[in-house]
Amino acid sequence: MGFVPRFYPCLWLLFFLNSHASLLSSTTHLCSDEEAAALMQFKNSFSINRTAARICEFHSVKSYPKTNSWKEGTDCCSWDGITCDKITGHVTGLDLSCSWLRGPFFSNSSLFLLSHLQRLNLAANFFQRSRIPSEFGRFANLSHLNLSRSWFSGSVPNEISHLTELVSLDLSSDDPSIPFPLRTLELDDPTVEGIVHNLTKVRELILYGINMSSVNPSCLMNLSSSLTSLNLFGCSIRGNFPNNIFSLPNLKSLNLKRNPDLVGYLPKFNWSGPLENLILPITSFSGQLPDSIGDLLSLRHLDLAFCKFSGSIPSSLGKLSLLTYLDLSYNSFSGQIPSSLASLTRLEVLDASENQLVGSIPSQVTAFPSLIDLDLSANLLNGTIPSWVYSLPSLQYLNLRYNQLMSHINEFQHNSLREISLENNKLQGPIPSSISELVNLTRLDMSSNNLSGLVQLDMFLKLQNLRFLSLSDNSLSLSSNIWVNFTLPNLKELYFSSCNISEFPIFLQGSNNLSRLDLSNNRIRGGIPKWMLATPLENFSIS
Ligand SMILES: *[C@@H]1O[C@H](CO)[C@@H](O)[C@H](O)[C@H]1NC(C)=O
Ligand SMILES: *[C@@H]1O[C@H](CO)[C@@H](O)[C@H](O)[C@H]1NC(C)=O
Ligand SMILES: *[C@@H]1O[C@H](CO)[C@@H](O)[C@H](O)[C@H]1NC(C)=O
Ligand SMILES: *[C@@H]1O[C@H](CO)[C@@H](O)[C@H](O)[C@H]1NC(C)=O
Ligand SMILES: *[C@@H]1O[C@H](CO)[C@@H](O)[C@H](O)[C@H]1NC(C)=O
Ligand SMILES: *[C@@H]1O[C@H](CO)[C@@H](O)[C@H](O)[C@H]1NC(C)=O
Ligand SMILES: *[C@@H]1O[C@H](CO)[C@@H](O)[C@H](O)[C@H]1NC(C)=O
Ligand SMILES: *[C@@H]1O[C@H](CO)[C@@H](O)[C@H](O)[C@H]1NC(C)=O
Ligand SMILES: *[C@@H]1O[C@H](CO)[C@@H](O)[C@H](O)[C@H]1NC(C)=O
Ligand SMILES: *[C@@H]1O[C@H](CO)[C@@H](O)[C@H](O)[C@H]1NC(C)=O
Ligand SMILES: *[C@@H]1O[C@H](CO)[C@@H](O)[C@H](O)[C@H]1NC(C)=O
Ligand SMILES: *[C@@H]1O[C@H](CO)[C@@H](O)[C@H](O)[C@H]1NC(C)=O
Repeated sequence: MGFVPRFYPCLWLLFFLNSHASLLSSTTHLCSDEEAAALMQFKNSFSINRTAARICEFHSVKSYPKTNSWKEGTDCCSWDGITCDKITGHVTGLDLSCSWLRGPFFSNSSLFLLSHLQRLNLAANFFQRSRIPSEFGRFANLSHLNLSRSWFSGSVPNEISHLTELVSLDLSSDDPSIPFPLRTLELDDPTVEGIVHNLTKVRELILYGINMSSVNPSCLMNLSSSLTSLNLFGCSIRGNFPNNIFSLPNLKSLNLKRNPDLVGYLPKFNWSGPLENLILPITSFSGQLPDSIGDLLSLRHLDLAFCKFSGSIPSSLGKLSLLTYLDLSYNSFSGQIPSSLASLTRLEVLDASENQLVGSIPSQVTAFPSLIDLDLSANLLNGTIPSWVYSLPSLQYLNLRYNQLMSHINEFQHNSLREISLENNKLQGPIPSSISELVNLTRLDMSSNNLSGLVQLDMFLKLQNLRFLSLSDNSLSLSSNIWVNFTLPNLKELYFSSCNISEFPIFLQGSNNLSRLDLSNNRIRGGIPKWMLATPLENFSIS
């Protein structure tokens, strides 16, 4: 009996909350009838077709038809994808990304009746190459507009530049797996000028894959100082990139990838700021990599591959201690690899291949604990392979081919390796026995060196993932078949030219995917076995 009074207030409170909630949902809709009707009409103007959101599945993003849950007579503010203003009840947010919408998008769309929208995301639907209606320019309070990969085409309307409240604009075109000539969304000079002039609050400008071939890059010059991210990946923009973009005080990410006719250089002075991603591959950026790059202390991702840079790699790069990705490949860098790179302890990718680097690989490195991919191939590097290369705990891809390296090959300390390419050097001595433990190896190429010694073929017995194996053109002798009792089921290419083989390698009998085989310059007795002749090879050379 004594407990009852203590419970009363709680029960009363529960009752009150309950009745209050049902009062709200049964008698007042937050959402106005006009907006609910406009949404319903918008929903009904499309069909629902899973193929419309293929790109979401491609990126493992959840995709489902959000509009299926929209029911007439219920509060539209509770519908999937809708956000309302808590006080006025107006629809302020509509997120129908990856919602399987399919059909043409007309300028009389009821969407444009939702005049209070602040955030609109229609990304990754299929609007059948409709034009972007100029009515999008009417959303006076829009701060976020995302029409990426939703299959609009034609010119982006100039009215986009009326959206002066925009903070984020994503118009990325189509599916990245679609070849560029089919990308048909275009931006012209006046529209870009309008965007630059009017969108003074814009932080993200993502224009990936839009055809900007008629845009003079200089009109980007006065972009808002609020800008944090500019993405012009694959926009076919040509001409001189305005250098003052680099000094925008808030810029964190600049992606100009794949604009081969975009000319530019990196600033030599006063270059600092929060830049984290500098992504310039496949452009015509040229000149030196300035010392000032070392001032970008926030840099994590630096990709300058396939550009026209020259001169030496500045040792100031070693100051960028947050760097995880460094790609300088396919340029004309010369001189030595600075030993300061050893302090980039967070690197996961280090690629300086296809340059004219000379001298030896720095040996003072103590640890690259996270390095996954090391590629210094196709340079003029000489001297030895330093010992740290063999003790990288995470290394999966090692590529030092086409250099002038002269040492022995040491034993690998970790089994994480997937590809080893050391061909076309001057490496000497035996093949290290630790190779036999690299169970994830898919590619091993040690051809065209000066390796010597006897190779027992059963050293490859555990390498069941091996697809490519080449030991050609060394001074090796491969053991005869007596010791061989294994198969390599995934092997596609085998090159054992000039390997002093005297018998046909019977372990190939289980390699059903073999398409290229080179056993030339050997002294194979007893001809080719019948089972081998039945294998359909693309390339076949035995002697
Ligand atoms: C969905 O779209 C594909 C073409 O992309 C079409 O072949 C298919 O018939 C459509 N399915 C429905 C139910 O409309
Ligand atoms: C919207 O425009 C399209 C094409 O111009 C037309 O077919 C359609 O009937 C119009 N819809 C409405 C509701 O007016
Ligand atoms: C836009 O925002 C302003 C300020 O928040 C507000 O007064 C105005 O009513 C909004 N306009 C619309 C169409 O929602
Ligand atoms: C636009 O939406 C897509 C799909 O939801 C998303 O992946 C992308 O990051 C969005 N863009 C921006 C700038 O937020
Ligand atoms: C880009 O648009 C121009 C015309 O403005 C056209 O000549 C060119 O072929 C287009 N490029 C691509 C890759 O679609
Ligand atoms: C800027 O926006 C206003 C409307 O807000 C528009 O009248 C004007 O044409 C735009 N300016 C440019 C350069 O597009
Ligand atoms: C950029 O702004 C400056 C100063 O306001 C002006 O002189 C220049 O003409 C503008 N450039 C472009 C391309 O709009
Ligand atoms: C670099 O900035 C300093 C001060 O901010 C200024 O005095 C100097 O002229 C600038 N140098 C260049 C080359 O712009
Ligand atoms: C390596 O190359 C550099 C310059 O190309 C040369 O000075 C040096 O003697 C070479 N070292 C060896 C061991 O061949
Ligand atoms: C081999 O690869 C598998 C799957 O990718 C991974 O789980 C395993 O740890 C790898 N083995 C070694 C020795 O790195
Ligand atoms: C190859 O190695 C042998 C020693 O194994 C050495 O005598 C010879 O000079 C080397 N050849 C070349 C071209 O380096
Ligand atoms: C080869 O291995 C198979 C199965 O692994 C075994 O049955 C066979 O006896 C072995 N042959 C020789 C010669 O060791």
